[in-house]
Amino acid sequence: MAAIATVMVVITTMHFAPLVSALNVNYYENTCPHVDSIVATSVHHATMNDKTVPAALLRMHFHDCFIRGCDASVLLESEGENKAEKDGPPNISLHAFYVIDNAKKALEEVCPGVVSCADILALAARDAVTLSGGPTWDVPKGRKDGRISKATETRQLPAPTFNISQLQQTFSQRSLSLEDLVALSGGHTLGFAHCSSFENRIHKFSPKQDIDPSLNPSFASSLRSICPFDNKVRNAGTSLDSSATLFDNAYYKLLLQGKSIFSSDQALLTHPTTKALVSKFACSPQEFERAFVKSMIKMSSITDGGQEIRHDCRFVR
Ligand code: HEM
Ligand SMILES: *[C@@H]1O[C@H](CO)[C@@H](O)[C@H](O)[C@H]1NC(C)=O
Ligand SMILES: *[C@@H]1O[C@H](CO)[C@@H](O)[C@H](O)[C@H]1NC(C)=O
Repeated sequence: MAAIATVMVVITTMHFAPLVSALNVNYYENTCPHVDSIVATSVHHATMNDKTVPAALLRMHFHDCFIRGCDASVLLESEGENKAEKDGPPNISLHAFYVIDNAKKALEEVCPGVVSCADILALAARDAVTLSGGPTWDVPKGRKDGRISKATETRQLPAPTFNISQLQQTFSQRSLSLEDLVALSGGHTLGFAHCSSFENRIHKFSPKQDIDPSLNPSFASSLRSICPFDNKVRNAGTSLDSSATLFDNAYYKLLLQGKSIFSSDQALLTHPTTKALVSKFACSPQEFERAFVKSMIKMSSITDGGQEIRHDCRFVR
């Protein structure tokens, strides 16, 4: 009997587990068929008015997926005693939440209570890449929104000072490989970094050296002029690559020249596997795009938290 019960359990889990968690490109086919184009319209409109929107949406999706899975926990507001993720320390570059609000409003008009905020964010991140001249892909959907968002959990995000073993660990905890790490770091082809995120490399780098010796010297000087020691200019910083609104493989080319912004970018050159991938993506935009799409789908399929479909992306139901 016990053996039969075990077999039953195994069969049942095998049969149901994938159905519960599997995302599907056609998930809203019958319930909200125009979801992709409605989200794309919101992202497009916002980007016309503000070129920093695509970078913001891509980073927002990454933060969402790395904490409690892609469950829109990054979108929730602090309430009462609870300080939400968006009010935690590494929130400095998070902005453009209104773009998700606008898409949600438009969707609630045509298919109320159907599309999760987590799916909207996954779609918006894809649109952000495509609108910036990057690849496009079909986004699997069917995520549920979570009910928990805690500022203290932003500690689970990788820090820009991380070395390769720390990066590898944060990624592998989410079943992401070294190839995913290198491909997704290519997200740093878009957007901006504040001085505080890379000052470790240009001031008091080590007891012996003020500047990270792996930085190209003239590039280091330009970073130091933007971010003098004890910088007081609130929004001082620099773009993450030479073409901050264009999704291309320049990030990898610059990285090989000692012109990356974060220690975590530079760290990709300190392991043979990741270094070889950096060289491959620097040489071939096609290889980069192919790998980026594959890894984005993997990252955006991390779902372990969601329970519901919110009406307003900033508040649980
Ligand atoms: C590998 C570990 C990663 C670390 C340590 C890291 C760290 C950071 C930091 C510190 C910033 C700048 C914040 C600021 O100073 O304003 C940043 C910006 C950004 N990151 Fe990452 N990141 C990582 C991975 C990713 C991934 C996987 C993506 C997406 C695929 C991504 C996309 C972005 C984008 C687009 C920006 C610019 C945001 C903006 O301009 O609004 N990052 N990242
Ligand atoms: C970031 O967090 C600080 C407090 O830690 C908060 O005052 C600020 O509004 C937050 N910024 C965003 C964009 O949520
Ligand atoms: C990375 O940093 C951690 C923590 O500081 C340290 O224990 C580890 O040895 C470092 N690994 C490498 C490869 O530098």
